[in-house]
Amino acid sequence: MGAELLDGKKLAAEMRAEIRRKVAELKASKQIEPGLGVLLVGENPASVSYVTAKEKACAEAGILSKEIRLPATATQDEIVAVVRQFNADPQIHGILVQLPLPKGIDENAVIETISPEKDVDGFTPVNIGRMMIGLPSFLPCTPHGIIRMLLKAGVETAGKHAVVIGRSNIVGKPVAHLLSRKALGGNATVTICHTRTCDLASYTRNADILVVAAGHANTVTGDMVKPGAVVIDVGVNRVPDATFPRGYRLCGDVDFESVSRVASLLTPVPGGVGPLTITMLLFNTLEAASRAAGDSAAV
Ligand code: GUN
Repeated sequence: MGAELLDGKKLAAEMRAEIRRKVAELKASKQIEPGLGVLLVGENPASVSYVTAKEKACAEAGILSKEIRLPATATQDEIVAVVRQFNADPQIHGILVQLPLPKGIDENAVIETISPEKDVDGFTPVNIGRMMIGLPSFLPCTPHGIIRMLLKAGVETAGKHAVVIGRSNIVGKPVAHLLSRKALGGNATVTICHTRTCDLASYTRNADILVVAAGHANTVTGDMVKPGAVVIDVGVNRVPDATFPRGYRLCGDVDFESVSRVASLLTPVPGGVGPLTITMLLFNTLEAASRAAGDSAAV
């Protein structure tokens, strides 16, 4: 029996229509156009394509996006100066510094410069800290998108064993927190696995919900998955393939073919988690603009 696919594109389209409606409402009632400041440093092809997709999504939602590009040789001071410029710009309600930053740049120092009220990625210590102690905060986009997908699909998380592979600040750590917190889409018992985990399969085989954010293709194969598990594949890997127009194809961290024969629900790559990540960025930018206008827009 094959797994049912979790259609991220469809859910994202529904949520984006609602966001677009609320953006129009905010413009009409408060004459405020939500604005996102985007900083891209260097020309990492994956980052360029993410930023392009995010800006296109902003335009479709009626959100202004202002992009600043710096060369890969930019200094820490030049990068921080752009963030400060966005912090001070009243047209900008949200700031996106596309990660990773080039080698030699202190990423945490850059993130700490982002004003927490404009931190629509939810990466600053203030927002992470507020999230951890259950205060209102901007939630990191990919983890928040994953929870929304699980809720939409009617997946019960309470009392379930969720295994997260990966401990990054962007996905692994925050999604583990959201799955375990005392809230809707939470209340799971969570195990975090990482590069130093011994016998990874012994954990994954016990997962009711498996979130794979390892950053490597084929990290999880069908024999590592409990029959009927829900598998969320966060990976985006480029695999050279001459039969594709761009010379590569995208695949996740999960071996789709073998895992889809064992799991009950599975996110495809592309078309699974990715569209939700961008949607939650729009959501947070609308929220930031609404807060600036003295409202809260929760979609
Ligand atoms: N790089 C990979 N994912 C993300 C993300 O969600 N936000 C930012 N700013 N950079 C990323």
